[in-house]
Amino acid sequence: MRSYENPDFISDKRLKQRSYYIPEGKNSYILLNGIWNFKFYEKDYDLVTDIKDWETIDVPSCWQAKGYEKPNYTSKYPFPIDWPYLPDENPCAVYERNFEILDTTRKHYIVLEGAATDATLYINGVYAGYTQGSHMQSEFDITEYLTLGQNTVRIIVHKWCFGSYLEDQDHFRYSGLFRDVYILSRPIGHIGDIFTHTKNDGSIEVDFEGSAEVSVIDGDRVIQTKQAEKRVELKVENPILWNAEKPYLYTLQFKYQDGTINIKIGFREVRISSTNELIVNGTSVKLLGVNHHDSIVNKGWSMTDAELRHDLELMKSLNINCIRTSHYPPTPKFLDMCDEMGFYVVLETDLETHGFLRLYGTANWSGSWKKTEEWPCNQPEFEKAFLDRMVRAVERDKNHASIIMWSAGNESGYGVNHDVMLKYSRERDPDRISMYDEAGWKSEYNQAFSSMYPDVSKIGRLAKNEEICKPIFFCEYSHAMGNSPGDVYDMVEEFYKYPNVIGGCIWEWCDHTVKVGNTDRYGGDFGELTTEGSFCCDGVIFSDRTFKDTTYEVKASYQPVKFEKIDSEIHITNRYNFTNLKERKIVIEIQKDAEILYTKEMCIDVEPHSTYILNLKEFDLPKMAKYGCFINFRVYENEECMALAQFDLDIETAKTEYTEEFAKIVDNGREFIAEGNNFKYVFSKFYGNFSSIEVSNKEQIIEKVFISSWRAPTDNDRKIKTFWGHEDLRQGENLNLQFSKVYYCTESDGIITVSGSLAGVSRAPYYKYTSKIQIKKDGTIIVKMTGNVRENCVWLPRLGFEFILPSENRDFTYFGYGPFQSYCDAKHHTTRNLYSSSAEKEYTPYPVPQEHANHTGVKYLTIGDLEFFCEKGADICVLPYSSQQLTNAWHTDEIGASKATYLRVDYKNSGLGSGSCGPDLEPQYRVGEKEIDFEFIIKPKER
Ligand code: GAL
Ligand code: MG
Repeated sequence: MRSYENPDFISDKRLKQRSYYIPEGKNSYILLNGIWNFKFYEKDYDLVTDIKDWETIDVPSCWQAKGYEKPNYTSKYPFPIDWPYLPDENPCAVYERNFEILDTTRKHYIVLEGAATDATLYINGVYAGYTQGSHMQSEFDITEYLTLGQNTVRIIVHKWCFGSYLEDQDHFRYSGLFRDVYILSRPIGHIGDIFTHTKNDGSIEVDFEGSAEVSVIDGDRVIQTKQAEKRVELKVENPILWNAEKPYLYTLQFKYQDGTINIKIGFREVRISSTNELIVNGTSVKLLGVNHHDSIVNKGWSMTDAELRHDLELMKSLNINCIRTSHYPPTPKFLDMCDEMGFYVVLETDLETHGFLRLYGTANWSGSWKKTEEWPCNQPEFEKAFLDRMVRAVERDKNHASIIMWSAGNESGYGVNHDVMLKYSRERDPDRISMYDEAGWKSEYNQAFSSMYPDVSKIGRLAKNEEICKPIFFCEYSHAMGNSPGDVYDMVEEFYKYPNVIGGCIWEWCDHTVKVGNTDRYGGDFGELTTEGSFCCDGVIFSDRTFKDTTYEVKASYQPVKFEKIDSEIHITNRYNFTNLKERKIVIEIQKDAEILYTKEMCIDVEPHSTYILNLKEFDLPKMAKYGCFINFRVYENEECMALAQFDLDIETAKTEYTEEFAKIVDNGREFIAEGNNFKYVFSKFYGNFSSIEVSNKEQIIEKVFISSWRAPTDNDRKIKTFWGHEDLRQGENLNLQFSKVYYCTESDGIITVSGSLAGVSRAPYYKYTSKIQIKKDGTIIVKMTGNVRENCVWLPRLGFEFILPSENRDFTYFGYGPFQSYCDAKHHTTRNLYSSSAEKEYTPYPVPQEHANHTGVKYLTIGDLEFFCEKGADICVLPYSSQQLTNAWHTDEIGASKATYLRVDYKNSGLGSGSCGPDLEPQYRVGEKEIDFEFIIKPKER
């Protein structure tokens, strides 16, 4: 057995974990970040001590991001499950650099904030310790190995060690010294661990190792100072409490010898009420969160402080109030920022053994998930390592106001070793909630019941299940993969219905990709032996931190003000927990079509969780509108809009105007031809649709119009697309291999009637329809289609008409839900108005090309020389690529050139959901009806 395989040798000479701080004082902090000598070995048995041909590398960094080994994305062990052993060939690297010590009478410690997956330490050639636990902190006392002046530190890092069995998280696997490395130079007799406890009455109790002068400071004002040993009690009169909306921090200062330690503390109390609500400072709080992995394009796990802060700023702008540090502790500085900026943090330790699910080949797979007795969580050999990871997380981070829960890891089955962890965190830190997702309601140590990826109805079922008897927290819900999520709004509304549902965290914050040129690469692109493919592209935002359209849907779903229209009243509910609505500016508008008739700024005094009622009778409304009349609300925090809503006001809308007289239709045997002042239409009797639409002597379409149901599957269509018939011809309706059939096409009294059907190859027709097309003398085309979807056919991706337009007809204007894309289940971030866009602007480079850019509720559209009207509202989409191009491409650089403008005018398009990992799309958002009735009008544009 190699030493790093030994379950009992997970650390050596590593100091007991203390709370995180950086002591201040001259020369006390020697940051070793920078350029180190580096030598990479593909096999650790090639490792030599006398290295001549050094290369160099930046610390912190991941060696895969620096060209040593390829990136590797997987959630399954990338090696055999033969614990505690690792493969014969285990890559490793040697890091070395010099540093200067100015005073050898002091104590010196080296701290590694993150070393994946282990680190063997040498100082001046002498072995000084060993550690495992990639995302955990390790500190060693190196005093005895140092000499005055120049010294050398060498760190050997293995790619895999016994700890790798505990680190089977779903992300790119990286190796190396990926977080800060530093030396602390401290006076003899310095203080050690610090554990602060605050109460909302202002009392502070501090347990600490050593003696110091301890002060509590508010800004620059020293409130109280005491000299103490081991324990001190201090008091702040009428403290300003900390919460995620208004984070207020005090400084606790320790002075000893020549050292000073400043720790930020916040006054806040977290508890669970008798009704299982989450109570922060006496107020019931919902957690509207995301899961945050450390990940930055082409740099892997090494995020700079600025990058981390940027993430938090973006989250704040999106109404996110909670972060689960999936699935390991972040760098401590991230938590400092969470304290300062205000987030509720679920601090998860570095532990996942998910790959045990596939301990055996599939022949024996059934029930393997349940066999937790074979999982590490029930193996005595793993107990030490499990506990070690909980202890180090709790001990390092126990002073952060932002942390409200400890999580004992992710997807590791559930067993006795988890109980050992939860027992530790509960006993050591009873002021926070200890939880583990899979521990369920039966575990006496688990304080919150967690579940993943519920469907909407499951939330209520769990909430009403009296056996659970714990607050319910969805540590992962709503899977934001690709063009998604579409279900977050409905989920959040469920959270608010049930006091004992305390919220959840969307999976996950950002995509993880490696950019090669301009193209996002993901799992499988690097020759991985096991991979989860594009499951790393499942963030609320893209990997480069740009927003998807659904990012705004998350923001709208998490918005702190809820607007409801109840009869002739608007109910405005303050969902902030600690902010009165009078601290925000609310703008109200009355909008008729695209015109704002009235604007008013309001400042209303509404306490958290209270409702203000606005009577619509107060407003003068117009008699009539073209498309509609609306009342709009926007809530501003400074200049940023944090909440919005729009409601229809019931007034009459105008009908589209056209001449009643029919155009003359000439039948040439194969086609019907209608001609007028500035138009000429050719309708193919053979195909039952327009083959030419000329307006002002310009051809508007470059191929015949057709009816279809296919859309380039989104990641969330992953399961249903098998039945739509995308890849497996045995199972699906083969909607993307569509044949059309016209049974007859006739004309009488100016009305063209088409009877036809659509069918996937090798299948019975899935849709049979009759279209009635009227062509009026002024060129107006009225299309009325009624049809039936085969009774036993799967629900459809969408259904409607496709128009292929010349590329230059790329600009368009529409009245509907915009300016962002909108789908029937994901339109809360959009409002109806008149918007202009272009095919190029609508295109979003999803790492896996897929359906997007829909606009729902569209009553008017103009593109080229055509105008479209749909009284009931159509779903439209304008893109520079065809659905087939998007379907066939697996990366953006495979889409090919744009050849036309692709316009869809749809009866309906199905919603987005989050079914890639989450639940199936809710029935009300599917195009699942069997009877179709669709009507729209096309007119030549008036010039
Ligand atoms: C969850 C898991 C996450 C991630 C997700 C799928 O079950 O906890 O780590 O794998 O599924 O993207
Ligand atoms: Mg997993």
